Amino acid sequence: MSNQNIFYPSKEVISKANIKEYENTYKRSIEDLEGFWAEIAGRVDWHRKWDKVLDNSNPPFYKWFVGARTNIVHNAIDRHLTTATRNKLAYIWEGEPGDTRVFSYHAVNREVTKMANMIKSMGIKKGDIVTIYMPQIPELIFAMLACAKIGAAHSVVYAGFSAKALADRINDAQSKLLITADGGWRRGKIVDLKKIANEAAEITPLLDEMIVVKRTGHDVEMEDERDFWYHELEKEDFVHNKCETEVMDAEDMLFILYTSGTTGKPKGVKHTHGGYQVYTSFVHYAVFDIKPEDRWWCLADPGWITGHSFIVYAPLINGATTMLYEGAPTYPQPDRVWEMIEKYQVNILYTSPTAIRGFMRFGDAWVKQHDLSSLRLLGTVGEPINPEAWLWYYHIVGGGRLPIMDTWWQTETGGFMISPLPITPLKPGSATKPLFGIDADVVDEKGETVEPNEEGILVIKKPWPGMARTILGDDERFKQIYWSDFAEQGWYKTGDSARKDEDGYFWIIARIDDVLKVSGYRLGTAEVESALVSHKDVAEAAVIGLPHKLKGNAIHAYVILMHGVQETPELEKELKSHVRKEMGPIAVPEKINFVDSLPKTRSGKIMRRVLKAQALGEDPGDLSTIED
Ligand code: WT7
Repeated sequence: MSNQNIFYPSKEVISKANIKEYENTYKRSIEDLEGFWAEIAGRVDWHRKWDKVLDNSNPPFYKWFVGARTNIVHNAIDRHLTTATRNKLAYIWEGEPGDTRVFSYHAVNREVTKMANMIKSMGIKKGDIVTIYMPQIPELIFAMLACAKIGAAHSVVYAGFSAKALADRINDAQSKLLITADGGWRRGKIVDLKKIANEAAEITPLLDEMIVVKRTGHDVEMEDERDFWYHELEKEDFVHNKCETEVMDAEDMLFILYTSGTTGKPKGVKHTHGGYQVYTSFVHYAVFDIKPEDRWWCLADPGWITGHSFIVYAPLINGATTMLYEGAPTYPQPDRVWEMIEKYQVNILYTSPTAIRGFMRFGDAWVKQHDLSSLRLLGTVGEPINPEAWLWYYHIVGGGRLPIMDTWWQTETGGFMISPLPITPLKPGSATKPLFGIDADVVDEKGETVEPNEEGILVIKKPWPGMARTILGDDERFKQIYWSDFAEQGWYKTGDSARKDEDGYFWIIARIDDVLKVSGYRLGTAEVESALVSHKDVAEAAVIGLPHKLKGNAIHAYVILMHGVQETPELEKELKSHVRKEMGPIAVPEKINFVDSLPKTRSGKIMRRVLKAQALGEDPGDLSTIED
């Protein structure tokens, strides 16, 4: 290969890898897409096999495994109950204060059954959407699986979101039931989830009932007839009854997950039982080389797609043992993660560039004082990883012997799309090559493939089983956001820019739409702007991302105040706390600049790239469309 800086896998890694060959299998998978996925779909059970692998009669509304009957919970739990996996650990959980709980597959089934009976008793039926707002405790996972078991869909709202954001999502999903907890532990403090859930309940007319898990034990307000303690419901006989796993259509909704887009309104991305189970479990097996004896740790929150796919569904389908940790990864000491890896002899660690940069900041000694020899593979996700962080991860955490799986994917893709396999030669900062069945390319606006090393638009040219099916209640928006730019060709637009080098390696550059990646979190500039404008003193706002050493990008806001309002440091503080209240801590701007005007096009669109170029001291480029 052309590039000098290549890291080859050891003979040992190659000899043990689940997947030993890439090029030919890839070629075959693209040439015979349906044949390939039909074969992979044989890794899971079906109550009824499909009539057709792919229905592409109404693009972009593709259907996979048409006519098949299944339930992801059957593959994640039920089928293991008659094999040796029944007695295997499914989850090893550690709370931030150091308390631990472990669950075998048998125990997971017991807990999920209880929760499923509770949910059913609240009148939830197949097709309903239950909202879940929980800390990282095992019950979060059980709640998700319980919904899926009875054929309801879940919508997990990340526990860092505000009451307003939670209420918006409850409304959009029309949820009548919320599953939550009194609180969770983060950096030694209680995050008061029940208080936020109560506030959300006040501003949503739909919510009838809440199931509340006791985690922290602090005083919370419970409303009679609406709120039920989980541990009280557990005392009822009926929750211990057997609960059948509902047999679903392959295309039935499994979950909704809200993610940020280019408009202020969050979009509920819809995934289904059939294609998603095939796709996530396969890429997990292929990329992370999952073996029965492994202990796998995906250091993400189950509340994001990473957790849905790679803490909950894929590892269970693959019969793996998964670690789950409640709190902050550097609390109470910077070596919390390394200590846990040593203590539990974890084999595979999957985390984000932001977390890696956070660990790096504390110095190598915190890592080196632990025996990390149990590790055999590393992974990263969420944003481009800078080579400096990659090399630190490789040398300091991996001791120079562990391949790093830099997995590029999105909420909308369901699972990894561009990623190395353990056998792939690595280039620091490159997600390497598309996985099997994924026809990725870098093109210009007309759809022409750009020259090697030239920047362009990252597109996916063929459908894949794990793809999002639509945006809840808004097929038009789904079409418009992802499928309209290359409608003629029928390609999926990822929203990312990338380049492909002379070896066919992909290098993800950044988002090209008005979406920011802050500490790996996805935020729409429009969401932060509308939070700012909802403050009485703000007339107009524009938000951009500027490079940040730890967070990758940091939010910078430009605000025009209402006539007569004084700009003061106090007001900047107040606006920050306003955004925190509207959206949650992840959306709070690093800096708010008060300005008199904003660069706009004649049609009134804010030119964020001009603000960005100015802030970075760069050439703002073509200004011919600017108004002022
Ligand atoms: C966006 C999707 C999918 C799990 C977490 C994020 C960026 C994700 C990588 C990577 C460079 C990456 C992209 C993508 N991204 N992984 N390995 N290298 N960029 O899911 O919140 O839906 O965000 O995250 O910009 O479009 P998400």
